[in-house]
Amino acid sequence: MDNTDQPTVLLPGEVRMPLLGFGTWQATGSAAYDAVLAALDTGYRHLDTATLYGNEREVGRAVRESGLRREDLFITTKVPPDRVGRERETLEASLEALGVDQVDLWLIHWPPSATDSIPMWRELLAARDENLTRAVGVSNYSTIQIDELIQSTEENPAVNQIRWGPMLYDRQRHAEHRDRGVVLEGYSPFKTTDLSHPVLTRIASAHGVSPAQVVLRWHIDHEIVVIPKSVTPERISANFDVFHFSLTAEEMRDIDALGEV
Ligand SMILES: NC(=O)c1ccc[n+]([C@@H]2O[C@H](COP(=O)([O-])OP(=O)(O)OC[C@H]3O[C@@H](n4cnc5c(N)ncnc54)[C@H](OP(=O)(O)O)[C@@H]3O)[C@@H](O)[C@H]2O)c1
Repeated sequence: MDNTDQPTVLLPGEVRMPLLGFGTWQATGSAAYDAVLAALDTGYRHLDTATLYGNEREVGRAVRESGLRREDLFITTKVPPDRVGRERETLEASLEALGVDQVDLWLIHWPPSATDSIPMWRELLAARDENLTRAVGVSNYSTIQIDELIQSTEENPAVNQIRWGPMLYDRQRHAEHRDRGVVLEGYSPFKTTDLSHPVLTRIASAHGVSPAQVVLRWHIDHEIVVIPKSVTPERISANFDVFHFSLTAEEMRDIDALGEV
């Protein structure tokens, strides 16, 4: 599948973010390099890393080795909240390790203390204004914490990356993101899901796919970004093979209901 065919969501500044990305937490060293290279060969064009994952160098090496054009990739990294006051040097270290001039999305990994929150967000905005990142956002923020950023700076985070999956589905929280123009990006889609749940196995067999593929497709059909991680070649490839089917409105409602009990 060509990257132009992949479903994307539009971030401010005309930045297109593929709805399906590749997670890299807990993949380090040659396992991270091999997994990211396999993901890029499979067709993923969106990679999720972080300063704290300790794998930006391996991610960057796989990107170069893939032979893909930088402009065809979407790369996210994250600054840990304890780097307040050292945001710029942290981003410069990420860029150096990744071997790129700019990332596509830079996130605050989780909320810093109340006093550090706005100064840190302003540093992200400054980095975006200097083109070191195309978009900026947050991770693990509540709606109240997002509103504090918007009220202080009149700039909404492009994305909030949070724990998400069918068992955590929260219609209101999703709507709160949409209402603020914040893209919801889910993480840990499998770790938060009982993949043997009868609703998921029933829908999976109706489509001839696995419950894991149903979970990924459910995110995509909700226009929620999802970033499954795997270091297993068969899973890397199966987790990308979710564009040949889609879920009916009734199936979507049945899966939504798993989080509403
Ligand atoms: N912002 C944050 O605070 C935050 C927190 C957590 C995660 N994240 C991001 O989100 C990404 C995804 O979350 P995650 O890594 O926590 O969890 P995940 O993607 O839900 O689950 C990864 C686990 O599921 C296994 N797996 C992969 N594909 C599978 C499949 N088709 N069927 C069954 N099991 C499968 C993987 O095993 P193998 O690798 O052995 O195949 C691994 O053990 C992370 O890698 C990271 O990039 C962000």
